[in-house]
Amino acid sequence: HRHVDFATPERINSVIATGDFHPQIPDYEGLDAYGAGGGYDRLQQLRENGDWEVVQQDLLDAGLRGMGGAGFPSGKKWGFVRAEPGPRYLAVNGDEGEPGTFKDRYHLERTPHLMLEGMLIAAWAVEAEKVFLYMRDEYPAVLEILRREIAALEAAGIAAPGFIDLRRGAGAYICGEESAMIESIEGKRGLPRLRPPYVAQNGVFGRPTLVHNIETLHWIARICREGHGVKSTVEHNGRKGLRSYSVSGRVANPGVYVLPAGTTIAELIAAAGGMAEGHVFKAYQPGGPSSGLLPATMDDVPLDFDTLQPHGTFIGSAAVVVLSDHDSARDAALNMLRFFEDESCGQCTPCRVGCEKAVKLMQADRWDGPLLQDLCTVMTDASICGLGQAAPNPIRLVMKHFPDEVS
Ligand code: NAI
Ligand code: SF4
Repeated sequence: HRHVDFATPERINSVIATGDFHPQIPDYEGLDAYGAGGGYDRLQQLRENGDWEVVQQDLLDAGLRGMGGAGFPSGKKWGFVRAEPGPRYLAVNGDEGEPGTFKDRYHLERTPHLMLEGMLIAAWAVEAEKVFLYMRDEYPAVLEILRREIAALEAAGIAAPGFIDLRRGAGAYICGEESAMIESIEGKRGLPRLRPPYVAQNGVFGRPTLVHNIETLHWIARICREGHGVKSTVEHNGRKGLRSYSVSGRVANPGVYVLPAGTTIAELIAAAGGMAEGHVFKAYQPGGPSSGLLPATMDDVPLDFDTLQPHGTFIGSAAVVVLSDHDSARDAALNMLRFFEDESCGQCTPCRVGCEKAVKLMQADRWDGPLLQDLCTVMTDASICGLGQAAPNPIRLVMKHFPDEVS
């Protein structure tokens, strides 16, 4: 399950020596191999005589929720979009900008056709006129794989020419927020829209749009091919299903681990070969910087949707970063807020000014607790989108769990 890193010193030296800037394409399962294993049979069956509501029920029975991080029930989204008059679109969110998240890349570099079949099944289910596949541009190998395999799907008559429109992001974190992504697809600056209306009603070019993350589509294909039991029969720590954890930081073997939902951080560290040599577990980011930091003492909490809510945080896209006794929780939180300050789209004051103000306050020797709490409340209550609403989490959690570092 190790994540392949193409930025090795050997690779960089070879690029410098040869001037070959083309991405190194990993071995992946191409269309022929995927088709030989029964790939796209299910899609063809569904297109011939499938009932979208039966598939929708399968997704609901599997307990599939949005794996981009928000965890909204995927089958329900199909119902919202189908309830609107056509033309409808599917927009695939492959922006994967959450620091510490690399699970979508992992799956696309190995089994791209699972995602592509899931995508075509979802497009069939909502009768989408077109699919916009919005990919992170910093994944050159993934983009090359998708270009090749989309052409292969067109040549094989599985996708109509031009039906899948591959779009490249331009490095803005906010363009992973679904409505900002849609603005970007429309050729505009990526500014999040106010909700409601939801994108299910008013998405790309004002049309009803189904938005799914890459990993969600991967699971849709697996559920359609293997039945909902592929997720619903797995139980662990009182939670159901499987999910992909991106694990990095001070562990021996960083990588993507596909494990039962509800795996604890203690179990994840064990799966990742234990702590890196010379490091003692101190804290962890459970799901991206907007989930903040939890202390090592909370090592028995199942890491799934809903389970972290009582602790003031969430699992999000399961971007788990492990910190050790060599790290400062306070510096990590400051780093997170600097990231949000850089990536705020600047559209609303609580986030634009709030992030900047928070960074200034967090640079002081001692944090002004009451003032920071006030600022956090305003940002959470009054920001337009999730970036500004969740940016205070690292501040709140460090004040709660690591008070010695900030007072
Ligand atoms: P959200 O809960 O507002 O929405 C989730 C999805 O459900 C959206 O597609 C939304 O349109 C839909 N939805 C919700 N209520 C609906 C309704 N009543 N009718 C129709 N559709 C409805 O969450 P949001 O802001 O989209 O996502 C936040 C999450 O994204 C965070 O938890 C964070 O972890 C994650 N995230 C992931 C990143 C990544 O790289 N994978 C990057 C940044 C954040
Ligand atoms: Fe932009 Fe931040 Fe407002 Fe979101 S909360 S719309 S990122 S300024």
